[in-house]
Amino acid sequence: MKYVIKTPPDYLPLSNRDFVRHFANLLSKKKYDFSIRYKRFTKVIGYSCRSLFDMIMDYFNNKDLVVATTPIHHTSFRDIIEKYVKPENIHLIKLNDKFNEIKEVPDLKKCDLVIITHLFGQDLDLSALSEFKKKHKCIVIEDRVQGGSLDKKYSHKNADISLYSMAMDKRPIALGGGFMYIDNRHKKLIIDFEEIIKNLPVEKPSTRFKQLLKKIPTYLLYNSKAFAFFAIGLIDLSGFFNKAISILSVAKLYRASNPRFLRKGYMLKPSPGLLKSMYENFHKYKEVENVYTKNYEFFFSCFSPKLLSYFFPWYRGESSVTPYNTIQIEEHLVNQFLEFLSDFYISGLPNPTYKLFNISYDDYPEIVKFNNGIVYLPCVANMTKEEIVYLTNKIKEFHKIHNQTK
Ligand SMILES: Cc1ncc(COP(=O)(O)O)c(C=O)c1O
Repeated sequence: MKYVIKTPPDYLPLSNRDFVRHFANLLSKKKYDFSIRYKRFTKVIGYSCRSLFDMIMDYFNNKDLVVATTPIHHTSFRDIIEKYVKPENIHLIKLNDKFNEIKEVPDLKKCDLVIITHLFGQDLDLSALSEFKKKHKCIVIEDRVQGGSLDKKYSHKNADISLYSMAMDKRPIALGGGFMYIDNRHKKLIIDFEEIIKNLPVEKPSTRFKQLLKKIPTYLLYNSKAFAFFAIGLIDLSGFFNKAISILSVAKLYRASNPRFLRKGYMLKPSPGLLKSMYENFHKYKEVENVYTKNYEFFFSCFSPKLLSYFFPWYRGESSVTPYNTIQIEEHLVNQFLEFLSDFYISGLPNPTYKLFNISYDDYPEIVKFNNGIVYLPCVANMTKEEIVYLTNKIKEFHKIHNQTK
């Protein structure tokens, strides 16, 4: 076998000890509050980020709910928005050609909610919303699951509610759960949300146990290089007998069902075991961010400025704090690129996270191309320097072969 990068495109930022601790926490009987009040904001705790977002949308729901929103979201967010908002009431906020700034806010007569999804481990600058917010007196909700550092609770003062996930591969991680910050000026919102969560059915500890059990193979595959090496060897051997089996086909199949997001039945409140895991980990985001920062800095330093802006147009010189090591490939080259990586035992994935709305994008074709060109590379968090250099060299090689210039 050739040189192998023993790292898949995802990573669970927790140690073996932490992993076992989540199981031990299942026995907890301790009571925890579903909200924590701070001086300027309140942290409201939920079963998942999508449960909190669904609750917010249901709360503001009216027959004619109008939203202004960034053009791509996590599948669950896209689905929840479409569940509550008529297609004609979804108005897109356009991004600049680097997809890292707001370029154009829609001109509307009325707007109830602004929904922002931050991308690629950094924040969009929400100062562009100041006038719009003043005019419409709307609530600004931000999905910071893939946003910038949690050193800040909101990316900008224009945001009223910021949402976070503690599931699977997130920071901080509790293998489940989500939370949101709400500005204390929204007193009624906080009281109402606390009441709604209190009255939700509680997650069964047995369900939590089953979910944790299912995460064992994923944890081994994503975090253990020995296990990943074994899996790659096995795929290679199987590919010898069946040409349809490759690193790419297996990575796609595995990622399609891991994490398996609940599309329904998520309107619950966390079980005591999950709450304990969350409370133990709220403050542990920084060490995770530091690992990403250090490794991404090295990863990005391996590219020339020209290639950086070609493959990572959103990159502003700040480090990314997400496990998703994302690269932009020209739409028509995505399959070739993924197969090229797969031939070198490098696992990549076509965009598994971000989705467009089921509305017309005729006046915004750039974002469709962009979304189709998103590819995940192996996660830098668990890669050695040698692996990072090898990966970046392969990307440069691909670029040379296709003589892509910009
Ligand atoms: C950007 C983004 N938003 C929202 C979510 C949903 O989080 P949860 O699984 O806690 O509902 C995810 C999960 O991967 C995500 O990546």
